[in-house]
Amino acid sequence: MKKTILALDVFDFKKAEKLVKDLSPYIDVFKVGPILFLQSGREIIKMINDNGKKVFLDLKFHDIPATVQRSVMSARDLGVYSLTVHSCGGDEMLKLACSVENHPKIWAVTVLTSQITTPEEVLRRAKLAKECGVNGVISSPLEIETIKNSCGKDFEVVTPGIRPAKANDDQKRVATPESAVKAGADYIVVGRPIIEAEDPVKVAKNIYESIKEL
Ligand code: C5P
Repeated sequence: MKKTILALDVFDFKKAEKLVKDLSPYIDVFKVGPILFLQSGREIIKMINDNGKKVFLDLKFHDIPATVQRSVMSARDLGVYSLTVHSCGGDEMLKLACSVENHPKIWAVTVLTSQITTPEEVLRRAKLAKECGVNGVISSPLEIETIKNSCGKDFEVVTPGIRPAKANDDQKRVATPESAVKAGADYIVVGRPIIEAEDPVKVAKNIYESIKEL
């Protein structure tokens, strides 16, 4: 299984299409967030699926339960593989999201990796999300082991905040691809270290090589 999810945080459809094609030997799931979705919506989802790849729709739904439930239905009908809801939305919202028939994988955001928090807070939100029926959570690399120990190994943990080399940006709770996967991450989410690299294919290949045997 290819464990890297590429965060397609670019403005331009053509640039996104080139990344999907070029990186396809090393990446199976492409994350579409608001930046690209607000530009290209359905077309971007279709392009990724037409290239035989999966879409992780990262719009972090956080609204009244009925709106989130209907948003999950719309995402399902678009053909996405996974999506995010925000754990702050509370138990009623999370449960209703999970009640949607044939829903894509639902991953709940615990606490954004750009924010300082405590492992206890992340774990509290992960447990709540699990009780409500979500498939997994987004957490920083630093909480993977605690979540797996408390919520079980089948409860998926998806981790952004991955930095192959020293980087100086807004991510506060970071780890290398190897250490995140060794700690039990089911997927690592990587954006800028690949898309802003001089040679994105080389960086994606290096990450792939570094974790493929783990
Ligand atoms: O560029 P970088 O590797 O930091 O990208 C990480 C991606 O993961 C971004 O698209 C960001 O929106 C997303 N993300 C995150 N922290 C979360 C949830 C999602 O960084 N808790």
